[in-house]
Amino acid sequence: MSKRVAVLTSGGDAPGMNACLRAIIIGCQRQGFKLIGYKHGFNGLINQEFIPLSLESTHNLIQYGGTILQSARCEAFKTPEGAKTAAVNLANVGIDTLIVIGGDGSFRGANHLSQYWDGQIIGIPGTIDNDIAGTDATIGYYTAIDTAMSSIDKVRDTADAFERLFLVEVMGRNAGFLALNAALSSAADYVIVPEFFDNDKNEISRIVKQINGQRALKGEVSFIIVVAENVWPNGLTGLASALNKHGIKDVRPVTLGHVQRGGSPVAQDRLLASSLGNHAVNLVGQAQTNIMVGELNHRVVSVPLSDTWRKQKPLNDTRVAAMKTQMNERY
Ligand code: F6P
Repeated sequence: MSKRVAVLTSGGDAPGMNACLRAIIIGCQRQGFKLIGYKHGFNGLINQEFIPLSLESTHNLIQYGGTILQSARCEAFKTPEGAKTAAVNLANVGIDTLIVIGGDGSFRGANHLSQYWDGQIIGIPGTIDNDIAGTDATIGYYTAIDTAMSSIDKVRDTADAFERLFLVEVMGRNAGFLALNAALSSAADYVIVPEFFDNDKNEISRIVKQINGQRALKGEVSFIIVVAENVWPNGLTGLASALNKHGIKDVRPVTLGHVQRGGSPVAQDRLLASSLGNHAVNLVGQAQTNIMVGELNHRVVSVPLSDTWRKQKPLNDTRVAAMKTQMNERY
């Protein structure tokens, strides 16, 4: 039977969200499902702001960053009234399945909606942070690593020219996936991630030891520290002043910021987005609901939505080991 499907993108946008929308549009078209897109995340559900999505919308879409549906973080949706209004609106439009592309905040929102709406809910992981359990990677993560890596390569050019110490802050919210992988792929000298941060005193003595060790061996050389956001007390300013107190001067902070959310998605994000979007449409009308589709060991899987934030996803051990070796390689 023909189904009515709705899709929205929510939370921090991520490169590849458009590629995922494209796969969903094409999948729905092939299966003869009606598809609408809600704009501005869950706000669109509350405000009944939606557009029809058809094959014309897919032209030239796969390579664009951002999201053609726009995104938002929606406080009103967290309230019972907000979710009830959304449920009534979905019922009025006759939606059978809602697909939510976003991160864990968006999945919590979708789960909250399920208390008031009995349609099918399918989540697709889209966030540069990769902090979602039940999938090896999230849409946007690979592009963000690439952006951070190439930015750090550029920082290194000027760092080398002045033999300076640079602190580079990368996003990731409360997880170190982006920081670790950006640091490893750009051969940074040190990385600070929440998963291994005990306290600033211990960390600063490790950093100072590394810098002094490297300078004793090679003289004045550049040194790049990649710092995950939200870890160091008072951010890069706090870290720079702690280093100053240990006699390490001329430190330059660089915050990469929202640049990491933009740009054309790399192939890995387009591929993940295309597979997960297509798979989500294949599940439309089946009994499974309140699930996220993800990819584990190159296989598409479905996991309960609540597992995605209740379970902890660890950093990849071999990447951690490689970074530890990189940090200590000169001693
Ligand atoms: O979740 C994606 C993300 O970019 C995080 O890495 C970052 O902490 C946060 O969103 C920034 O959010 P906003 O765009 O609301 O400042």
